[in-house]
Amino acid sequence: MLDSTLSDIEARALSAIEAASDAAALERARVEFLGRKGALAQIGKDLGKLSPEERARAGKLLNSVKQLLEERFDKKQTWFEEQALRARLDAEWLDITLPAPGVRPGALHPLTQIQKELEDLFTSLGFAVVDGPEVETEWHNFDALNIPPAHPARDAQDTFWLENGCLLRTHTSPVQVRAMERFGAPLRIIAPGRVFRNEEVDASHEHTFYQLEGMMIDRDVSIGHMLYFMKTLLEAIFRREVTVRLRPGFFPFVEPGFELDIQCLLCGGSGCPVCKQSGWVELLPCGLVHPNVLRAGGIDPREWNGFAFGLGLTRLVMMRYAIDDIRLLQSGDLRFLEQF
Ligand code: DAH
Repeated sequence: MLDSTLSDIEARALSAIEAASDAAALERARVEFLGRKGALAQIGKDLGKLSPEERARAGKLLNSVKQLLEERFDKKQTWFEEQALRARLDAEWLDITLPAPGVRPGALHPLTQIQKELEDLFTSLGFAVVDGPEVETEWHNFDALNIPPAHPARDAQDTFWLENGCLLRTHTSPVQVRAMERFGAPLRIIAPGRVFRNEEVDASHEHTFYQLEGMMIDRDVSIGHMLYFMKTLLEAIFRREVTVRLRPGFFPFVEPGFELDIQCLLCGGSGCPVCKQSGWVELLPCGLVHPNVLRAGGIDPREWNGFAFGLGLTRLVMMRYAIDDIRLLQSGDLRFLEQF
């Protein structure tokens, strides 16, 4: 009786193992036959009712069936696991013998490139490259540059004020004052850097852009000296001879002050959209340093004089590479940057 029940369970269990189509089905069958409340466990409980000899014999038989089924379950489970691993290896296959894609070479931002070129040029001419803070005092940004509080020139350079009375510098000109304070005369410096204006942003206006300030102080500096350096500067940038002209221009920190124009490099002076048909492009404001500025920097204007200029680096980059939207420069867009 017991024997036939056992062989019946064995047969049913074996065919359930055979039929299980995945690991979950196999596990359900294992619980059904080998689990704590499964078919074999039930028979184990019934053994108690048998006589000692019968119990020993039936116990052995039960154990051998149990062992056989455990083996078969384990075997099939291992098979499922191997299947799953094989499927995963197939899906995640990686050919480690393929050549690596290699390092993507980076490049300097076009603004940095121009800045470095100009630094090289001016150091070769005996100028020092100096730096100043982007958060500036009102005195360095305005007063010391001969722009007193009520002067209309302040309105032309609206900026971002901090609660402590400092401001984001509107130009690199305050570095002139810092350099005079620090080094005295004679002096030859350039100061490239980031400046800020409270501007409505569009294709030609940014709240953040770059300038390069220059200053030379010595004895008997003339407009002729200034022109020589300005021409040298422009020819280095554009890598060809340029024709320049001076127009009067007003900046409180220079007297006389000039706008230095270059003859349009695109049309050669005959007129085109870039120069707005005028033949000239305004590029480089400059002038002889105002005596009040020298005094503010602690230099005696009876003994020394000099010239200063303010080059718009951002503007220059846009001209050199014919970039028509200033916002691209700080977009971080690789499609733009990879062209340089
Ligand atoms: N700081 C002026 C500006 O941002 C530019 C400038 C004009 C600088 C004349 C100079 C200069 O040194 O002489 O508009």
